[in-house]
Amino acid sequence: MGLFFSVKYGNENSIFPGRAAGSQRRQGICGILMQEDMEMSDRLANIRQEILDGIKERANSRAEAFELRKQFLDSKTGKIGQLMKEMKSIAPEERAGFGKSVNELKEWAQQRFMELDEKMKERELQRRYESERIDVTMPARNVETGNLHPVTQIRNQLMDIFVGMGFEVAQTREIENDYYNFEALNIPKDHPARDMQDTFYLSPEFLLATQTSAAQIHTMEKKKPPIKIVAAPGKVFRSDDDATHSPMFHQMEGLVVDRKITLCDLKGMLELFVKKIFGEDTTTRLRPSYFPFTEPSVEVDVSCFSCGGKGCKLCKGTGWIELLGAGIVNKKVLENCGIDSEQYSGLAFGIGLDRTAMLKYGINNVKLLFESDLRVLRQIDDN
Ligand code: PHE
Repeated sequence: MGLFFSVKYGNENSIFPGRAAGSQRRQGICGILMQEDMEMSDRLANIRQEILDGIKERANSRAEAFELRKQFLDSKTGKIGQLMKEMKSIAPEERAGFGKSVNELKEWAQQRFMELDEKMKERELQRRYESERIDVTMPARNVETGNLHPVTQIRNQLMDIFVGMGFEVAQTREIENDYYNFEALNIPKDHPARDMQDTFYLSPEFLLATQTSAAQIHTMEKKKPPIKIVAAPGKVFRSDDDATHSPMFHQMEGLVVDRKITLCDLKGMLELFVKKIFGEDTTTRLRPSYFPFTEPSVEVDVSCFSCGGKGCKLCKGTGWIELLGAGIVNKKVLENCGIDSEQYSGLAFGIGLDRTAMLKYGINNVKLLFESDLRVLRQIDDN
């Protein structure tokens, strides 16, 4: 009867493999045995089918495959293991055949589960590859970085230029007293030059700085010539308010004190600076002006970098744009700071940073610089 169990499973994918072969062999055998044999061979076939179904439907990961395997191949609780235990109850002459069939099923199942495990391993690896996949062709995520305020950009550019010419950097103050802001700069209390700057007082003595020129005095009190400084950050305040004037604006003060300093030094230096800021073709001209703390005093104009000097809207048809005030340091100012005006002379200049930013970046209203409108500020990234 062992024959009945040593069924050869022809096609592993057919629903009851081996059935046809078995049933042919069973012809002519007594009913009861046939019943048992059929049951046994059916049970094996069913387990086989369950395994195939399980593999197909219930194994989606290595862990699930392992669980499924346990259901059949666990030596104590597995269905195939259980079959082995039934050995005892089988007639001795059939045991060998039964054992062989169960062993074959067991080997077959082990093989299937090994393959399944391989497949799951591969699939899990694949899933990991998918989830960890980096598409190197994808454009990088845009990291928003801010940019410096246009006035800060201009200040940095100017500092770079002047530091490149050997200037040191000094600090300006937002609050000055009457002496530093006016008196020491040769602007006595009753001087008419105070009028346009005589503004935000914190007390009779202290005021918000109206010009960075006070930095000249602070510097000359601390240092003896040779002196070569530019002063920043340069926040100053005046009672001014229109499209080109703001109550708060910025200047950068320059001061050079040494032997034999002349207007030629000033012109040479400023010429270099405007070429760097506005382009190589830009030139300068000096126009006579008046400041109590410089003698002679000049306004420095730059040739219009927009029209090249022919005359346009920016330069109001003149071909020139007014850029800064400057001059040779008044002897009285040197003397106020204890510097011998016979031995030394100095030059000073005050550059409007907001004005320079407006000219360079084509901003037509100074308020745009201080309204914190990001649509404006984002457009100017020159560093
Ligand atoms: N302080 C002057 C102003 O604010 C500019 C200036 C600086 C002029 C240095 C001469 C020398 O207008």
